[in-house]
Amino acid sequence: MSKAGVTAVGVSDVSSRPSLGRRVAAHFKRWWWVHVIIFIAVVLVIALPVVYVGYPNIAQDDINESTLKITAMAITEPATDAFTLKQTQVIGTDSIFHPTIFAFDAAVSLLGSAAFATVRVPEIKANDGTKMDIDQRLDLASVDAFKDFSKAVMLEKEVKLNVYGVPNLKQGALPTIDVTYNKTVTMKGLNKLEGFKLSKMHLAKGPNGSNLKGEVFIPNPSVMTITMGNVTLDLTVDGKPIGQSFLNELVLKPGDNTLDMSANTDLMAVTKLLPKYKNNIIPVDITGNSTTYNGQDLPYFAAALAANKLQVDLDVGEILKGSD
Ligand SMILES: *[C@@H]1O[C@H](CO)[C@@H](O)[C@H](O)[C@H]1NC(C)=O
Ligand SMILES: *[C@@H]1O[C@H](CO)[C@@H](O)[C@H](O)[C@H]1NC(C)=O
Ligand SMILES: *[C@@H]1O[C@H](CO)[C@@H](O)[C@H](O)[C@H]1NC(C)=O
Ligand SMILES: *[C@@H]1O[C@H](CO)[C@@H](O)[C@H](O)[C@H]1NC(C)=O
Ligand SMILES: *[C@@H]1O[C@H](CO)[C@@H](O)[C@H](O)[C@H]1NC(C)=O
Repeated sequence: MSKAGVTAVGVSDVSSRPSLGRRVAAHFKRWWWVHVIIFIAVVLVIALPVVYVGYPNIAQDDINESTLKITAMAITEPATDAFTLKQTQVIGTDSIFHPTIFAFDAAVSLLGSAAFATVRVPEIKANDGTKMDIDQRLDLASVDAFKDFSKAVMLEKEVKLNVYGVPNLKQGALPTIDVTYNKTVTMKGLNKLEGFKLSKMHLAKGPNGSNLKGEVFIPNPSVMTITMGNVTLDLTVDGKPIGQSFLNELVLKPGDNTLDMSANTDLMAVTKLLPKYKNNIIPVDITGNSTTYNGQDLPYFAAALAANKLQVDLDVGEILKGSD
């Protein structure tokens, strides 16, 4: 068959039927609903995964990539199994999305340990630099877990605090979804109270039968303000007890702390030790014995103080020279 023949048949065929436009119109008039269904199906096939897979993934990824920084933390009104926490934390994110993260309960722990408390995190709009202020009375879920955290704060240069929760999140008109919030904040610790010093030690009568007074210097490189209560410390020389020292209403603030201390020492025993050491300077070991606040024992701070052995050189000659 020739090409011309085909063309001729085609031309005569078209001329005997309605125009293309009219045929298309007729087709749509009859089958419009099929097209609507196909259109909706295509939109759903594209949109549903975006909304129900892509969006949660992007949201979770942004949460994973975000950072948390604690800029201030204060522990006040401590009790045996509770304390008041005031904390300021800042979120860091470079996401183009700024979802609302609804208020949620976060379990707080020393990374790798059990949670010691649950903190209610307030609702926020997740922008870079968003500040969150927390001011809550926390009941300790586990005193032992808080003991571990307190010990780590006392002994370590850096402490890893883990915050875990499953908040609801909503971006614009998109549905509300769950995300896993699992952040570890690295904070400075008290680093064994490095730099601890005694000064102005002199004889002075005080409460609890104390016979020495002076000042302690305690640097606090962390951002934490810790209310430690009325602290009793044991004093020993070569493992032999020589007395106790008292720090009343100890509050360690960030930076340098200078506080009054008093001590009840067995001066007879101290005098007997003198010939063993040069220049009347004896090495005194200081360890935590107990701490109380409004009559309640604070076992977690007591454990932290007990875990940290401090040594100071006590100039007994200097002490015996001056008195109040
Ligand atoms: C987020 O981090 C967790 C681990 O912490 C991981 O299991 C998850 O796959 C991450 N999700 C995304 C979307 O990156
Ligand atoms: C949170 O992430 C840490 C690792 O950074 C992991 O060890 C821990 O098990 C996670 N917590 C939960 C509850 O999945
Ligand atoms: C007396 O000692 C107790 C415990 O030994 C202590 O809690 C209290 O604060 C001390 N009092 C003073 C005034 O130092
Ligand atoms: C604490 O001090 C008391 C005396 O006030 C003493 O009996 C006790 O053994 C000390 N405890 C510790 C753990 O050093
Ligand atoms: C600390 O001890 C002193 C003297 O014993 C007492 O007056 C004070 O109330 C105690 N402070 C606290 C917070 O327990």
